[in-house]
Amino acid sequence: MLKLSPSLLSADFAELGGEIRAVERAGAVYAHLDVMDGQFVPNITIGPVVVKSLRRVSNLVFDVHLMIDRPERFAEAFAAAGADIVCFHLEAAAEPWELIRRIRGLGKRPAMAVKPETPVSSLLPYVKGLDMALIMSVEPGFGGQAFMPAALDKARILRNYITANRIDCDIEMDGGISLQNLRAVIDSGVNVIVAGSDIFGAEDVTARIREYLGEFNRGGLCPPGGSSDKCLER
Ligand code: DX5
Ligand code: ZN
Repeated sequence: MLKLSPSLLSADFAELGGEIRAVERAGAVYAHLDVMDGQFVPNITIGPVVVKSLRRVSNLVFDVHLMIDRPERFAEAFAAAGADIVCFHLEAAAEPWELIRRIRGLGKRPAMAVKPETPVSSLLPYVKGLDMALIMSVEPGFGGQAFMPAALDKARILRNYITANRIDCDIEMDGGISLQNLRAVIDSGVNVIVAGSDIFGAEDVTARIREYLGEFNRGGLCPPGGSSDKCLER
């Protein structure tokens, strides 16, 4: 199923509650929450306290993207704060399998991300343990960067691997996605789409989210009138 995961990184942080409610009203089912520590990436954003506050005002699936060193230190804190998906970077984890098991043990969905320079081959051995694999299509750290097309090849390899091995794992892509390249991203096998600046930079955020959902419904994958959440089995 295709899912839109709007990244709140490009939202107005003085109005986060209202922004996330608007995302939910517009029909998205995920919210992508970017956690940065100033170490793994050269930027600092939010921690568990903010996730916890947002949890009180939203029923969206919280897709928490940890761009932090030694993510194992914070799995419990983000799980307790209300994360649904806990996504850590392969490059940052000391014991990836141990962390996958811990996240699952906390009743959350484990996900693993790779930076642009990390080959997709290093992700493949973990995919069978994951609910989602995230391919970064920009260097993590900031919204509004240009899309790196090499990410599409990685997604294709990953999709083929998942299909060939009959694994149940979503493929997410994050960075530089817009309505202009959305079709190419979907065609590469990605089914969870992150978009930040293209959504929150729009004059009408609701209308922009609906444009994405409308694009999901194009291409004959969905029966007429089917909502984006109920169709598009890939
Ligand atoms: C970047 C973050 C992204 C970011 C994407 O490190 O992981 O989630 O918000 O923003 P856009 O869609 O503007 O590239
Ligand atoms: Zn992200």
